[in-house]
Amino acid sequence: LRDAVLIGLARLGTCVYRKRYQTVRVRTRKAVMSTETRLPPGPRLPAAVQGMAFATMQQRVMPAMQRRYGDAFTTAMPGMRRCVIVSDPELVKAVFKAKPDVLHGGVNPLSHVLGPSSMFSLDEARHLSQRRLLLPPFHGERMKSYEAIIEEEALREMATWPEGEEFATFAPMMRITLNAILRAVFGAEDEELDGLRKLLPAMTKLGSRLVMVPALQRDLGRLSPWQRFMRQRAAYDRLVEALIDKGRRDPALEERADVLALLLQATHEDGTPMTDAEITDQLLTLLVAGHETTAGTLAWSVERLRRHPAVLSRLVAEAADGGGAYREATIREVQRTRPVIVGTGRYVAKPFDLGPWRLPPGYMIIIAATTMHLDSRFFARPREFDPGRFLGRKPDTYQWVPFGGGLRRCIGAAFAHMEMDVVLRTMLREFELAPATERPERWRFRGVAFVPSRGGQAMIRRRGYV
Ligand code: HEM
Repeated sequence: LRDAVLIGLARLGTCVYRKRYQTVRVRTRKAVMSTETRLPPGPRLPAAVQGMAFATMQQRVMPAMQRRYGDAFTTAMPGMRRCVIVSDPELVKAVFKAKPDVLHGGVNPLSHVLGPSSMFSLDEARHLSQRRLLLPPFHGERMKSYEAIIEEEALREMATWPEGEEFATFAPMMRITLNAILRAVFGAEDEELDGLRKLLPAMTKLGSRLVMVPALQRDLGRLSPWQRFMRQRAAYDRLVEALIDKGRRDPALEERADVLALLLQATHEDGTPMTDAEITDQLLTLLVAGHETTAGTLAWSVERLRRHPAVLSRLVAEAADGGGAYREATIREVQRTRPVIVGTGRYVAKPFDLGPWRLPPGYMIIIAATTMHLDSRFFARPREFDPGRFLGRKPDTYQWVPFGGGLRRCIGAAFAHMEMDVVLRTMLREFELAPATERPERWRFRGVAFVPSRGGQAMIRRRGYV
């Protein structure tokens, strides 16, 4: 019913817009010519209606808009400046290759919650300088050293999974990815690990809510969500500062493999070390960026595999033989069909030529992963779940964009891929996953990521069960 109402409103708005558009077209054209701004077409519905439609059913709204207006269209969202949504690889390439002073990551909804030194709060030189410090620990080849930690965390969590009854895998996957990041990235052990394990689930949950409702990101008194978040943040800072202190005093720091140890040894261009505030903000950024996204993709993997028994059987056989090429292709196919981050954004800081259009400063450009990933021009039979399409072939940088791209591409892509590979391999070896006949799970927005609406339901039996 909600969908029908929203579709109705969208259609009504489009009709009203068309009528109004006829009358204002000449005036608009004059204004456009005079400012040298050329915007792609798009609906003129109230921002609230468009925002609601995108938030609740963007998987249908985005492709419908693309069919109606083309590979770039202008839209409006509540609390955001006007947006241009893009779903053409050539335009995507122009966006990802733009200079950082022309297109900013700017005013990310996460930045207020993550702190002023977070990657999501920075632009241009400061962003690039932090990125230069953070990239080496996430280099693809280093990832092998984290596999044992991930497998240990996966086995520990999976030992508690119930047999013979349906259960949601998203929460267990969140525990695996949280513990994996706390150990591999924060280098946390003992009391700090326990303290962060207790604090962070509540803190990231409240943080996601605050991101969804920016009006709550201010101090409205002792019991307000923002003050509660600030208290949690202070507790987080204390725990991470203890880890930093311990690291600085550790005589074996150079031999440690965790990301914190590498950050403690990294230096800015002028030779100065990272400050405590930079490290605490960056570690929280890595956790928030990497924890729910990876868990959501893993929950979607369970949801997809149960509905594609032939793919599942092939993966089980491959895992038993020690192979991994088909699993790697499967992870890419899950991310194509169920990208947890559905759009990557950039703010226009200086007039920007996007194909035939010229966008003025203040506009936001969103790369629509969901639309491109389901476009038959780029992926044959796009609605089919077929990992074979990526077997022995890497996806195109400007068509397959679950990790964004360019100078802000996800730093943790190799970490996430390795982690999903190890967790899936462990799950396939440990359990028989029963196929499902129910309808696919819907997409549910959690403030940062879209995850399966029923949490990626699983039904398992331990292998060797009689
Ligand atoms: C399946 C899992 C993941 C997905 C789908 C994902 C997706 C993304 C996307 C779409 C962006 C924005 C890219 C852009 O603007 O072009 C991003 C940025 C980022 N991600 Fe990930 N991510 C994942 C896992 C991780 C992990 C595991 C980490 C670290 C442990 C991480 C750290 C980051 C950071 C630090 C940024 C900001 C990069 C910058 O601003 O330069 N992500 N991620």
